[in-house]
Formats: sequence, C-alpha cells, structure tokens
Amino acid sequence: MTGAATTRVFFALWPDKAAASRLHALARQLHARLGGRLMREDSLHATLAFIGDIAPERVAELRVAADAVRAPGFQLAFDVAACWRHNHIAYLGMRRIPHALHGLQADLAARLRAAGFMLEARVFSPHVTLLRKAECAEMANSKMDKENPATEPVAWAVRDFVLVRSSIGANGSRYEQIGRWPLL
Ligand code: 2AM
Repeated sequence: MTGAATTRVFFALWPDKAAASRLHALARQLHARLGGRLMREDSLHATLAFIGDIAPERVAELRVAADAVRAPGFQLAFDVAACWRHNHIAYLGMRRIPHALHGLQADLAARLRAAGFMLEARVFSPHVTLLRKAECAEMANSKMDKENPATEPVAWAVRDFVLVRSSIGANGSRYEQIGRWPLL
C-alpha cells in the first residue's frame, strides 16, 4: 500500500455528556497529581475493538460486521482509577466487567476477525484513558500498576456503540464518529 492513504479507525463506547463531564473532572484531579497530558472531554471513550490503519474502502466491511452484532444494552460503571507504568497511561477501569460487555466485545471481535481484520490477541481490558505521559509513580500506595478505587465511580447506560475515525492534528488525535449501532 505504498503511498496509499489509510484511515485509522476503532470501535468504542462513548459516554453521554454527563458521564464525559464527570470523567473529565476525575482526569483533572489526577492531572494535578500525575501531570502528563489531559485528554479532551469530547474525546473520552472506552475502546471496544481497535482496528488501526486500513484502506478507506474497507470501512464498508466494518459496517457490515457491526450490522450483524446483536447484543443487549447494559449499565457500565468505571470504578477504579489506575495507571499503567509501562505506557504512562492513567485511566479509569472497572473491577468487574459486566457479562453483557464481554458478550458485545466478543461478538464484535469474532465478526471482525471473520471479515479478515487483525485484532490484538491480548485480554480485553475496558478502560477510559484520562492522561497520557502520566507520572504513575506519583499514584499512592502500590508496588506495581497502581489501583485506587475511584472516589466517585462514573456510570452510564450503554445503548449503542460507535465507529470512530482518528486523525492526527496539531493538538493530538482528533476523533470523528462515522457510524453508530444501537444495542437491543
Ligand atoms: P488507549 O487509550 O489505551 O491508548 C484510539 O487510539 C483508541 O484505541 C484509544 O482508546 C487507544 O487506547 C486504543 N488503541 C490504540 N492503539 C491500540 C492498539 N494497538 N491496541 C489496542 N487499542 C489501541
């Protein structure tokens, strides 16, 4: 694909406005302790399946795969603030992954793989990235990856999932939703 334009895409769960605002407030609190780069409020999300760079024509195949997904809506609660030392990402995660989220992710991933998309093999670890380049060592009281119960868990009702195009701008990545699929 030398010289050919590619498009960077991923499937995600997007918080509603109230949840995004609460996520951003938590991100600002963490930023005061850990520094790094604060994610913009309108870019906060949890990735469901990262596709990466593909030929733009293949976006149609992603839509076909997503059209076939049948999964119920569910309630999501991010209740752990943590930091990955290896990549300096401070994030909000969850202690227990809801069964319905596992089901949705597994269904989508299976359909994407069947359509020939390469997805990473590592275990699904739902999270919302809040800071990049964070000083994880500043997070209190843990020897390894730092985990703290979030003072205020952030919950939202997941009613759909989205396909997002990511482009690199002067101020970091820009995300544009290019598809949305309702859950049952
Ligand atoms: P991150 O927030 O943990 O970096 C857009 O880049 C989204 O896809 C982000 O949520 C990012 O996760 C995720 N992402 C980026 N590169 C990825 C990769 N190689 N594998 C899985 N997810 C990735």
